[in-house]
Amino acid sequence: MAQPSAAQFRASADMDELYRLLDAAGMGNGWAKREPSLYPSPKKTFVPAHWRFELAKAALEAAGRFVSTELAERRNLILFNPIPGNTYATARTLVAAYQMVLGGETARSHRHSPNALRLVMDTAPGAYTVVNGKKLPMQPGDVLLTPNWSWHGHSNESPEPAFWIDFLDVPLVEFLAPMFFEQHPGGLEPAAAVDSASPMRFPFAQVCARLDSLPDSHGVRELELGPPSLDTVALRVSRLEPGRGFSARRTTANCLFAVMQGRGHSNVDGTEFDWSRGDVFVVPSWRTHECRATERSHLFKVTDEPFIRRLNWLREE
Ligand SMILES: [Fe+2]
Repeated sequence: MAQPSAAQFRASADMDELYRLLDAAGMGNGWAKREPSLYPSPKKTFVPAHWRFELAKAALEAAGRFVSTELAERRNLILFNPIPGNTYATARTLVAAYQMVLGGETARSHRHSPNALRLVMDTAPGAYTVVNGKKLPMQPGDVLLTPNWSWHGHSNESPEPAFWIDFLDVPLVEFLAPMFFEQHPGGLEPAAAVDSASPMRFPFAQVCARLDSLPDSHGVRELELGPPSLDTVALRVSRLEPGRGFSARRTTANCLFAVMQGRGHSNVDGTEFDWSRGDVFVVPSWRTHECRATERSHLFKVTDEPFIRRLNWLREE
């Protein structure tokens, strides 16, 4: 239908005709919308969910037999939130993925506007992330940052496969649209020097030493990783002593958790699961979270809280 004229609107005989004319004019009525666009509190669109490292590791080992080395940088498992129509995001703004690079393999360097970071799970000495021309060692429990537009690739010079968990703000960038991506012209970016003390690397041993020096609050210590920090996410490590934990109020921030060490139990807004080393779980926005360790545990948390706070939308209750 062509763009209707003002005369057609004036001559419309009933509501149905008015709706047809409005539709053709690219205007929607605000008085009979199917879904309100404003509502009193956040919709709980994303659901609590949990992924087991044991299962992901077996799946990645199988993928290692079928997915060629040329695709090593893409041999990962995306932890998509199990809601209808979603195949990517783990929470509204964030995605997590398990990744493996086989012994002796490299994954080509690239850079992108989304911020990324990784938590190292199982590696042998000789596994590196190359960040802006420097080799950062990947040892179990290490956290490595690759902020917006940093070159990054991987070189596994050990004989063993290297497993880690990637976290990115891609769903947020996708929504806001400032997406840029570029492959490195040289494949894996050349890097000779090993930079163990890079500010982009938080070695697990140092994180534990810093936790040791913090005050213990009912068997829980919490450390914020940084500086440097990423613009959209904050990173925290919690140490929970056996039998201890926390009750988190619901917040408008989205949180992804990965288990660095230990085992325990969580109740996320009524969904219960047991977690152990390497598992990932999501506490989407506006969901409560109760968490107890059954043995001494270190939990890694990635939250979009800084971004939500900067826009003055952070609410907790
Ligand atoms: Fe990347």
